[in-house]
Amino acid sequence: MKYDFTTRLNRTGTGSAKWDDMYRKAPELGFGIVPLSVADMEFKNPPQIKQAISDWLEDAVLGYTDPTDEFLDACVSWQRRRHGWQAESHWIVPTAGVVPALFNAVRSLTKPGDGVIVQPPVYYPFFKSITEQGRTIVRNPLVRTTLDDGTPYYRMDFEDLEAKAKDPANTMLILCSPHNPVGRVWSPAELRQLLDICVRNDVIVVADEIHDDLIMPGHEHTAIMSVADVGEYDHVLVATAPSKTFNIAGCQASAIFIPNDDVRDRFRKGLDLVPASELNCFAYPATIAAYTKCDDWLEELIQVVSANFDFLRGFMGTYLPELVVYPMEGTYLAWVDFNAWGLSTEELQSFMEKDALLFLDEGYVFGEEGAGFERFNLACPRDVLEESLERLVHAAKERRLGSFAKGGQA
Ligand SMILES: Cc1ncc(COP(=O)(O)O)c(C=O)c1O
Repeated sequence: MKYDFTTRLNRTGTGSAKWDDMYRKAPELGFGIVPLSVADMEFKNPPQIKQAISDWLEDAVLGYTDPTDEFLDACVSWQRRRHGWQAESHWIVPTAGVVPALFNAVRSLTKPGDGVIVQPPVYYPFFKSITEQGRTIVRNPLVRTTLDDGTPYYRMDFEDLEAKAKDPANTMLILCSPHNPVGRVWSPAELRQLLDICVRNDVIVVADEIHDDLIMPGHEHTAIMSVADVGEYDHVLVATAPSKTFNIAGCQASAIFIPNDDVRDRFRKGLDLVPASELNCFAYPATIAAYTKCDDWLEELIQVVSANFDFLRGFMGTYLPELVVYPMEGTYLAWVDFNAWGLSTEELQSFMEKDALLFLDEGYVFGEEGAGFERFNLACPRDVLEESLERLVHAAKERRLGSFAKGGQA
């Protein structure tokens, strides 16, 4: 490997949100435990990005900044080159993160009281963007199923979606593509069907494609814009960002593609009402470098994350076979069903944090449909993952959970 995906980082005391959260939950924790929760990576950034920021800083005046043509071109070219669809640069509205963009879309494109459809279990700020702004959550839960070869799998429930979309009170759907936390990379047919239903029923689709670059070997991301017809553009917004892909969430850079002039105008006016919604000045050089100089880093990252997933699945299959590991087609987040242990959500969380010293994202935060699940962040060096899973199996044995009930060996 050309890049470093093995050095263990110690982010204690660096202001890392993920690490600080772990120490808030377990202040007595010593060194050596790495949290596998919040979706940023335990890897160093691509050196090209740091170099670009440092080169840029030499001559920069750190005043108010607007997106440059170079930034807009980098975002458009990335989508064309990596995801096969052609945008126009004036469609882009930069925002200081995808979550602020989702909040703004809900606020500026729906009315108080409107229903916004989500597909839980799903990234929890989707819920907040709806409830905290006086709109109503409308659930179109994903359905758990099994493929012919026995693989556990999630599908969309289109019949239910059609029923929800038909209700004129429901005016927006927030799509997570690829899906956090269940790891699905939606197929062109699934996205086409979703668009058909939404457009026919005048429901705006806000497609959160922040994980679009994190696609595991054998799978391919379909950008919703690549299956949308021009006549459907007024119903689609796409949120993209280099933040997950290159671990630069702290730079707060996102590009929201809004092809329809009127929708874009309403979205922009909504942003104008929010003080400090501009990107910080580092967002621009970081994004340009990410989208023009880091393809080889990303290829290596995907190999590392994919191998980590294979390791996790193999490990669980050997030592904790009662747990259900869902395929991780995209993202670097593995979704595992612990319901076979029969613990309440509180008991499961307490077991993870106190017995196994594992700091994960608890499934219930993604909605009631995630109760009894855990989300493992696999963007970490292999030895961190191995140690984490060994702690898990050791603690399960101590507590005689699952295969270890009745003192049996797994
Ligand atoms: C689906 C999804 N959307 C948005 C975000 C966060 O976006 P941002 O940090 O740009 O606000 C995340 C972070 O995990 C995510 O998984």
